Amino acid sequence: MKVAFLASEVIPYAKTGGLADVAGALPKFLTGLGADVRVFMPFYREVGKKNLPLVSVIDSASLEVNGETLAYRVLAHCADGVTTYFVDRPEYFDRDQLYGTPAGDYPDNGERFGFFCRAALETMRTVGFPPDVIHAHDWQSALTFAYLKFPYAGDAFFGRTRTVFTIHNLAYQGLFDKAVLGSVGLPSSLFNMNDLEFFGQVNALKAGILYSSAVTTVSPRYSREIQTPAFGCGLDGLLRSRSGALHGILNGVDYRDWDPATDKLIPHKFAPADLAGKKVCRDELAREFGLAAPADLPVAGMVTRLAGQKGLDIVCEALDALLGLGLTLVILGTGEQKIQDFLLAAQKKHPKRIGLKIAFDERIAHTIYAGSDLFLIPSRYEPCGLTQMYAMKYGTVPVVRATGGLDDSVQEFDAKTGSGNGFKFAEAAPGPLVEAAGRAAAGFKRPAEWRTLVGNAMAADFSWSRSAAEYLALYKKLAAA
Ligand code: ADP
Ligand code: GLC
Repeated sequence: MKVAFLASEVIPYAKTGGLADVAGALPKFLTGLGADVRVFMPFYREVGKKNLPLVSVIDSASLEVNGETLAYRVLAHCADGVTTYFVDRPEYFDRDQLYGTPAGDYPDNGERFGFFCRAALETMRTVGFPPDVIHAHDWQSALTFAYLKFPYAGDAFFGRTRTVFTIHNLAYQGLFDKAVLGSVGLPSSLFNMNDLEFFGQVNALKAGILYSSAVTTVSPRYSREIQTPAFGCGLDGLLRSRSGALHGILNGVDYRDWDPATDKLIPHKFAPADLAGKKVCRDELAREFGLAAPADLPVAGMVTRLAGQKGLDIVCEALDALLGLGLTLVILGTGEQKIQDFLLAAQKKHPKRIGLKIAFDERIAHTIYAGSDLFLIPSRYEPCGLTQMYAMKYGTVPVVRATGGLDDSVQEFDAKTGSGNGFKFAEAAPGPLVEAAGRAAAGFKRPAEWRTLVGNAMAADFSWSRSAAEYLALYKKLAAA
């Protein structure tokens, strides 16, 4: 089974969120199941800075787009049995960020990622890799399927190729002026509502939903939610029309990177049988952030994009009440200026109770997962969410809004039966968040009960093996059809 995997971010090369974790881990697990997976991503400036032993696969190639000749080359890197091909066109990808600056998205994102998709298809041809399945992720890779369906229709090289499109976040759709079609080499006739037009713009995500053999999203509950107006971001009707081809497959965790027993980024290793190291991590976290963090009151961590999706506004509104419960808060994040400003001011006011770092920092993230007692995720929507799964492995109890993958992966703790691995609340509002955090804070004061809960969280198994097998079964079903 030959699988070509397209994603705009992949660990360990480039990451802004969970897509990178998934696109880094899933190919390894598919390889372990016997698939031949090749990953395609852009050669960003930050990939170049990593000084990897890269191999040049295509020294010079070009695409004709709109009468212009656009040059590129292709580099490759192999790790854990998976080859990743990097599309290198400095004009498009040698930039400070992946998608844009704090001032906004790069204005040529349509051209950048359209080019990436087409160059990836041409690379498959040049290296002699006719895929059984092309699996593309999010809007940045979605135009792949518009190329296959139109300019590449009848191309014998892709004659047997089936296609899978995964939606990691329906809210990011890749919306552009209709002129983008010409600038990426797609027919302007696609600007109609049955193809890529969407409220007067071109919608790249629609190409993934419309033209792929199967559409997946990253949790069963989110696959149902996105077919409703409340979560459908204007595409619920289209998604309902494809419901027969739509699957929800829960993301997994690569426990080689996320296990407190082997994690090199945390102050002290620990395992379910001996949690002494977790206390060392907690003390070190408090020291690093200058927090008082009394031992009898819980430390609640957050590692998150500071964006509306993640319910940070709810946390801001609930802040005084959360402090009133006795919680110490530790937040690591980057994102919206007004959320940053609010949190920075709150931190100044309560320096011993609130720890805050505005940064994207892998080591600090691991330190927070390891050193916290609770983990807050009050998302307004959450396609899957990985941070609750990471937190659980580190014995850090999630307090989450019951939506999307958060609802699928967290079960409410029941002190009577000793079952469950976290706390949930239904409505995205400060009151319900504070109530759920209050249940957690009360449980924290009952050590025997808390030990059971922490044990349940650490025992939850979200390993990729199960989900990778589900993807492989889907590929096989499509290939056989
Ligand atoms: P999303 O992709 O919507 O941001 P996920 O929960 O799927 O949410 O994944 C977020 C990923 O990004 C996790 O690996 C998390 O640890 C990481 N992350 C988020 N913010 C930061 C940050 N400021 N520093 C380091 N890692 C972060
Ligand atoms: C998106 C979603 C997140 C999901 C991640 C990986 O960024 O917001 O919920 O876990 O993709 O699939």
